Amino acid sequence: MANDRNAHGHRHEGCDRQAEDPIGALTTLSRRQLIKAVIASGAVASGAGFLLRGSVSSAQAAGTAERLLTLTVNGQKRRVDVLPQETLVQTLRNKLGLTGTKIGCDRGECGACTVLIDDVPSYACSTLTHRLRGRKITTIEGLEGPHGELHKVQKAFIAALAPQCGFCTPGQVMAAVALLRVKPNPSVEEVRQAISGNLCRCGAYDNYLQGVLAAAAEV
Ligand code: FES
Ligand code: FES
Repeated sequence: MANDRNAHGHRHEGCDRQAEDPIGALTTLSRRQLIKAVIASGAVASGAGFLLRGSVSSAQAAGTAERLLTLTVNGQKRRVDVLPQETLVQTLRNKLGLTGTKIGCDRGECGACTVLIDDVPSYACSTLTHRLRGRKITTIEGLEGPHGELHKVQKAFIAALAPQCGFCTPGQVMAAVALLRVKPNPSVEEVRQAISGNLCRCGAYDNYLQGVLAAAAEV
């Protein structure tokens, strides 16, 4: 131990001497001392690299720090740490466990991620979560009845054989629910318009259209 402490102390002294007179210091070292000195300086260099990387990470982290936010989702207050660039669909799926909202294109084109924000259908993939403080968010999970029953739009879609692979279905449901809340008795054209932002790879557009009309008729 005493040797280690001494060697440790000498390494620092050696480093200081080398800084003042590197050639002189090296020429007075034995081969064994030289190897020790090289190993020690390598350790210092890699330690410095680690510290440097650490400080860069801290700087990066400072620009991407999470903030605790309280969201109102499906009538519940949910506290969640949110990154500045985090989208609502990421928060819902990855942090709140609400995976009913799907990610299709992830760039505001397909409608798979449609949720309601203050009852307005919105693409969750193109909405920053940190902007939603105090807003009312409704996802497909929020349509569930008190005893687990499906929403009437969901039942109507099933009856109309609209869901094929089903991937676009949650988004179609949310768009239809938003429409029926403001227009309980929509025209065909209004339904077409309301679900025009929701693409269906399976091409079941007419089934979804008929489903919305059937749900409206039920009301
Ligand atoms: S995943 Fe959001 S619009 Fe396609
Ligand atoms: S049912 Fe498959 S994408 Fe619409």
